[in-house]
Amino acid sequence: MNATNNDLDSLERDLLARAEAAGDEASLETLRVEALGKQGSISALMRNLGQMSPDERKTYGAALNVLKDKVSEAILTKKAALAEAALERQLQAEAVDVTLPPIKPRIGAIHPVSQVMEELAAIFGEMGFAVEEGPDIETDFNNFTALNFPPNHPARETHDTFFLDAKGEDGARKVLRTHTSPVQVRTMLKQKPPIRMVCMGRTFRKDSDATHTPMFHQIEGLVIDETTSMADLKGVLIAAIKAFFEVDDVRLRFRPHHFPFTEPSAEVDVGCDRSGGQIKIGAGNDWLEILGSGMVHPNVLKNCGIDPDKYQGYAFGMGIDRLAMLKYGMPDLRAFFDADTRWLKHYGFSPYLLPGLAQGIG
Ligand code: PHE
Repeated sequence: MNATNNDLDSLERDLLARAEAAGDEASLETLRVEALGKQGSISALMRNLGQMSPDERKTYGAALNVLKDKVSEAILTKKAALAEAALERQLQAEAVDVTLPPIKPRIGAIHPVSQVMEELAAIFGEMGFAVEEGPDIETDFNNFTALNFPPNHPARETHDTFFLDAKGEDGARKVLRTHTSPVQVRTMLKQKPPIRMVCMGRTFRKDSDATHTPMFHQIEGLVIDETTSMADLKGVLIAAIKAFFEVDDVRLRFRPHHFPFTEPSAEVDVGCDRSGGQIKIGAGNDWLEILGSGMVHPNVLKNCGIDPDKYQGYAFGMGIDRLAMLKYGMPDLRAFFDADTRWLKHYGFSPYLLPGLAQGIG
């Protein structure tokens, strides 16, 4: 009887150790069959019970049942542990690190002119200006006549105009627009005041050196309402230039000038410092001319169907390429249009960063 119990103890140790050591479900199943199956070791011992005395059968049978329960329990526990470990391995293998930055495909760089246009759209958009557009090829009327250039006046030549062979409905030769001001005309013809718009785009003049190219870019601003004034113009320009150059100290100087389409007209200089061999906008004792502006001429309002006795407005025009050169320190305008990818790589901007006033302009 004692010997038999000892046998049970060693059988238990052996079976439990095998359950613990099983590396996969298959070896657990083998163990189950070998211990608890019909031909298994525990079942064989069960069969011996018949030859025992009733007392022996009682204690030995109980001990066998305990052993049977322990072994099946150990097998189930190990099975659950193996399943959990397998799941853990799978989760590890399939894990995605969501904190890793995405792989950025190489899709080139944003050209400084596009970048500056985005910046200006963000700045003027914040101040309530809508962005309007117009075509590169314009009628003589929109580019000149409506803007109060006298008909057939040589002023058309002072813009170094590219005239096309094609003629507009007015019988005059079409032009590559020499400024963005025809978009003022287009906007006033289609929209009743109040008007508050900017337009950015290509402009063309026969001119070429380090700071002039036959194709360049302008931004135009126009505000028409019942009480607009030069003071509003000055306030808007100061706010825009502060935001664009990201400086707090901006001085503007309005110099009397002449444009056919504004009266009074002014060229505007911005305060700068040239002492370091480079132009720095903001503090300093120098001036740099950056834009043309004025109060919209009553004739222009009339030409565009707006009552000059009720409405008045201001307009301004600026060179975008010039703004880009000043802000980002590019010395030669011609390189803007060379399509040299090394230049673009150096001066270009990430397509992933959109300018906005909240996160900073440029
Ligand atoms: N169109 C003018 C130019 O190209 C600039 C300008 C725009 C001046 C609007 C006054 C008002 O020189």
